[in-house]
Amino acid sequence: MNGSVPRHVAVIMDGNGRWARHRGLPRHAGHLEGMKAVRETVEGACATGVEILTLFAFSTENWKRPNDEIEALMGVLQTFARSERDNLVREGVAVRVLGELDRLDGSSRAAVRRIMDATRGGSRLLLNLLVSYGAREEIARAARELAVQAKDGVLDPEQIDTDTVASALYTGDLPDPDLLIRTSGEFRISNFMLWQLAYSELYITSVYWPDFTREDLFAAILDYQRRDRRFGRIVTG
Ligand code: FPP
Repeated sequence: MNGSVPRHVAVIMDGNGRWARHRGLPRHAGHLEGMKAVRETVEGACATGVEILTLFAFSTENWKRPNDEIEALMGVLQTFARSERDNLVREGVAVRVLGELDRLDGSSRAAVRRIMDATRGGSRLLLNLLVSYGAREEIARAARELAVQAKDGVLDPEQIDTDTVASALYTGDLPDPDLLIRTSGEFRISNFMLWQLAYSELYITSVYWPDFTREDLFAAILDYQRRDRRFGRIVTG
């Protein structure tokens, strides 16, 4: 029992397609509905005092989906950036979009830049949207960066430790997630924050992402509060 509110919550938002299929709707309807669940979760995170919320919005592997679905997902990203901007600013939410953003089309990149600029001053919640993101790619990118520094003589290879690697990741200035939530009942990590999740508590719910509400977030946090976090140590006393 740790009783505390997780500082950093990460979410693999899964089940949009199945949510749509069960209703006889096209897949993109599920992604659009998923945007509402994002709003719910942001509001729930603000209400509980979570400091950082990291959402897996588009994976490196998602580039292999059919073009019309990729366009629909990028459309949802742009709609989110436009329609949620004022709410996010009012609620004190700073948005950061992390991933291989140079793979995005021009209008998506512009939308990302606008939402980050508009919300920069937010100090209540940091919302990280992982877009065009894969954890192995992130670690490879960090390795490349460190190798370049070593080659340039500004980094001694002997000095590279876990903190050095962690600080070269997209989340270099952030604490690791305390809690990982995955929706739609899948027991997989799917190339998401492989380094950062080393000691995170996992919470899997069968709810499809578009149906996820703030009550589901609260249930996950309550479950987290009952966990003993040992970080590989034993409990003494
Ligand atoms: C997985 O469902 C979800 C995604 C690939 C995209 C997640 C995007 C959203 C929730 C939209 C909101 C995004 C932003 C940027 C605010 P799936 O399509 O894999 O579902 P399935 O496994 O049921 O087919």
